[in-house]
Amino acid sequence: MNTNALFNIGYGLYVLTTRHGEIDNGCIVNTVMQVTSSPLQIAVSVNKNNYTHDLIKESGVFNVSMLTTETPMFVFEHFGFQSGRTVNKFATCEAEHRAVNQVLYIPKYTNSYLACRVVRTIDLETHTMFIAEIMDAQVLSDKASLTYDYYQQHIKPKPQADVVKSGKRCWVCKVCGYVYEGDFLPDDIECPLCKHGKEEFEEMIVETCSSSAPVMTGQNQSAECALNFNNTFSLNNMQQIQLTENIFYVGVNDRHTELFENHMELPNGVSYNSYLIVDEKVALIDPVEANFLEDYLFKVKSVLQGRKVDYLIINHDEPDHSSTVAAVLREYPEVQVVGNAKTFAPLEAFYGPIENKKVVAEGETLSLGTHTLQFFMVPMVHWPESMVTYEQTSKIVFSNDAFGGFGALNGGIFDDQVNLAFYEDDMRRYYANIVGKVAMQALKAIEKLGGLEIKMIAPSHGLVWRSNLAWVLGKYTQWSKQESEEGVVIVYGSMHGNTARMAEIVARGAAEAGIKEVKVYDVAKTEVSFIMSDIWKYKGVIIGACAHYANMFPNMTLLVHEINEFKPKDKLYATFGGMSWSGGGVKTLAKYAEEGKWNLVAESVEVKGAPIREEDWNRLYNLGKVVAEAVKG
Ligand code: FEO
Repeated sequence: MNTNALFNIGYGLYVLTTRHGEIDNGCIVNTVMQVTSSPLQIAVSVNKNNYTHDLIKESGVFNVSMLTTETPMFVFEHFGFQSGRTVNKFATCEAEHRAVNQVLYIPKYTNSYLACRVVRTIDLETHTMFIAEIMDAQVLSDKASLTYDYYQQHIKPKPQADVVKSGKRCWVCKVCGYVYEGDFLPDDIECPLCKHGKEEFEEMIVETCSSSAPVMTGQNQSAECALNFNNTFSLNNMQQIQLTENIFYVGVNDRHTELFENHMELPNGVSYNSYLIVDEKVALIDPVEANFLEDYLFKVKSVLQGRKVDYLIINHDEPDHSSTVAAVLREYPEVQVVGNAKTFAPLEAFYGPIENKKVVAEGETLSLGTHTLQFFMVPMVHWPESMVTYEQTSKIVFSNDAFGGFGALNGGIFDDQVNLAFYEDDMRRYYANIVGKVAMQALKAIEKLGGLEIKMIAPSHGLVWRSNLAWVLGKYTQWSKQESEEGVVIVYGSMHGNTARMAEIVARGAAEAGIKEVKVYDVAKTEVSFIMSDIWKYKGVIIGACAHYANMFPNMTLLVHEINEFKPKDKLYATFGGMSWSGGGVKTLAKYAEEGKWNLVAESVEVKGAPIREEDWNRLYNLGKVVAEAVKG
């Protein structure tokens, strides 16, 4: 029997997607057929080993996206050669395209999709056949549908000539083209690329074979996501953003993520800045967050117009910058990744082995032609491997997280194009919650950069500084030295409003003592990073917590944890709170105060029930007054 005859069945190729709970997944299938027209039903057969199979069994819904002859190989690699059990295949897709059954369909490289609901399953031992009614069907383009034969002839990579030279026997995977070298094909072989077994391998009839290297099908792949549409044009010189003639801003705005590092609110968004230096050699400085890959590569490619990136500079490993590293490597396989002695262990732990590395030391230089990069280590600003890159000709320092801030860039990229007052609070909040813990290291970094002539500061988040360098340096120095301003932050946690009423009385005492900047926060309502930002700014900190059983109001725990973790200096503290039946709030705050070595400047006030007795009212009022007077000095 010649099973190759089966390849002559007129198969198509499709992406089969499903959604179960919050999990989206998809795989490549070739067995889709319409089985009845009334009712309108199709059948699809899916291997039981596929994660998509299991999810469809659970969800009972799926979509079939019909691939076209323009589909590149990376789409098959993406959906067919990796498992949704270990990879979120939709993680890097910017836009969601969902059908009526809430399942994603593939808008790119497809001409139609069918949205389906399973009505019957048939067990076929290795596979399950799903019979489904069609809930919706849409045509997306007029491109020709892809057949399995077309895939075999025109899309699947051919074994490369340079691996066919050793004279040994070789076996090729008929599905993906991977080549196995050996006199015998093991029974338990599993293709390392597409995971198919021995039945999909056939012997290559060649005169010579390679030594050991497999045919890597990834060399034609693009980092583009099949969920996103094709870019239709390339940015011209006027549309690109230039810091200088040959240095470009290629960063992106994130207005979608709600929580930075999944715990700090982003009401104004955030930018992930990246820079491209085009010279005899091309250097890309700090990539961006993976969700913005397509927009990012569009900008990079618009500038480069076909040129390749020679160096990828990694100032910082944190994934808000580095999570596109693997995609950049796929796009520019010959790029050399530049980091310091601490860069690569975490980077490879995140993204796997990196072959082409260049480790630079403190002060080392790297010539790009007329531009020369120089590297300076700034450990712990924000991670141990953090460094900054100084370009000697333009005198621009690419400062990494330092001098960065929250807040997407609203059209203006440079400091002189915006109202700085809008960005200052978000900068300080970023500082207080990200850099503040290592304020001394930040100060050292500023001092280190003080020896350089700097014309522009280009951080990894927020504005590029070219006109107000003294302003931003002054702010960072003030925050790093922790020079508090006159003001009192009052934060309370209250279950039934009594501790909240106490906070109002404390605030009256502080205000009447002459403090104009009195900030009152309900810790259950305002996210902690905002409160920490004001604590960083102001000298007085008064914390009130009601009892919760024998402990304190639970939402207060995160704030006092952050205070003791970040240890803001130059603060004057006091505490208060309601007792419920036997207390617990003030008592627990006292433990945190002791552990964090808070400078308590007033005796704690604990109130039974509501602050409705004159004595309690006076004690709370005086608490605010005493702290205020201490703040005023
Ligand atoms: Fe913006 Fe520490 O990463």
